[in-house]
Amino acid sequence: MSAAPDPLRSASPADSGPADSDLVRAARGLPVSRTPVWFMRQAGRSLPEYRALRAGTAMLEACQDPDLVTEITLQPVRRHGVDAAILFSDIVLPLVVAGVDIEIKPGVGPVVASPLRSVADVDALPPLEPERLAFLQTAVRQLVAELGATPLIGFAGAPFTLATYLIEGGPSKEHARTKAFMYAEPEAWGRLLERLAVSAATFLRAQVDAGASAVQLFDSWAGVLSAADYAERVLPHSRAVFDGLGGRDVPRIHFGVGTGELLPLIGDAGADVVGVDWRLPLDEAARRVGPARSLQGNLDPAVLLADRATVDREVRRVVEQGRAARGHIFNLGHGVLPDTDPGVLTHVADLVHELTAR
Ligand code: CP3
Repeated sequence: MSAAPDPLRSASPADSGPADSDLVRAARGLPVSRTPVWFMRQAGRSLPEYRALRAGTAMLEACQDPDLVTEITLQPVRRHGVDAAILFSDIVLPLVVAGVDIEIKPGVGPVVASPLRSVADVDALPPLEPERLAFLQTAVRQLVAELGATPLIGFAGAPFTLATYLIEGGPSKEHARTKAFMYAEPEAWGRLLERLAVSAATFLRAQVDAGASAVQLFDSWAGVLSAADYAERVLPHSRAVFDGLGGRDVPRIHFGVGTGELLPLIGDAGADVVGVDWRLPLDEAARRVGPARSLQGNLDPAVLLADRATVDREVRRVVEQGRAARGHIFNLGHGVLPDTDPGVLTHVADLVHELTAR
């Protein structure tokens, strides 16, 4: 006689794959076997095997090579035993594929050759043809075959964050030019974000249709906006990205940095999961977001540079505060810092699993 089916899990063997993983279940607020954990920027310079593989290949070239994308995406999954892979790519890739001249400068970030400064520049932005994403779909298919029951998270940059790079021409602290354009040219601003939303949705659909099990929309710099401006001039376009997924039934994660005051709105844009940075404890974030959404976060990435006792104390705190949420996906509050000891990341993944095993 076979064992009684676990009432928390579907008894259907067809459901034992990534769609029934702890990551997807936590995103939907369903019971999990333990709190799932992954790290933003888990693939990257903290790993010696990444630096070895990337040597001699420019970042945006690497992103367009399906075999390199597959291998780099798998590296942190093998090493840390995390509960999800995130596709190795970049938020500016859809723009690059569409023909915008962008380079990623090591230690700096994306640099745009001709920053967008006028209404005419907005109208000249080339559209993203889905046929140009065949390399991406090849990478996703290879990954899904290798990953088995581990889900692959697809992602895109949100319209606002992409607009900051296009308008500023590169990374920026104040995003003053971006805001100035938003206020001075509201119609062109709306058109720009509309176009970026279409391209982000195309990028996400390509990943989901090739087998990605969840998606994350990165609006990394949305925290520079007031809630009123965010609600009126940005949120509708982020919502359009999620709407562009149509009936594709994958959980949606929506993340930004410094978004404490925007959290309810970030959820309203259509997310199942709201990503939270380290500034706000998860129990307070849960109060702001409400019981209809799960949370992802929010260990300060700098804590991983501290002593082991501090790391353990902070991991325990995040796990405890995360219990206030409908579901919790453990992550950092932003990306892994390049000089993080990868052994500490493995330790954190193990500790979260140990603390939360049901
Ligand atoms: O998280 C992952 O492991 C998946 C891969 C990933 C990268 N970029 C790889 C990358 C993801 C999800 C991104 C998204 C991304 N890119 C965001 C949103 C996330 C966030 O950090 O808020 C942003 C703002 C960008 C733009 C960008 N690309 C920046 C700011 C940088 C860092 C520049 C630097 O060298 O410090 C990049 C380059 C980049 N993207 C690297 C990686 C691994 C480093 C490139 C290298 O190894 O030389």
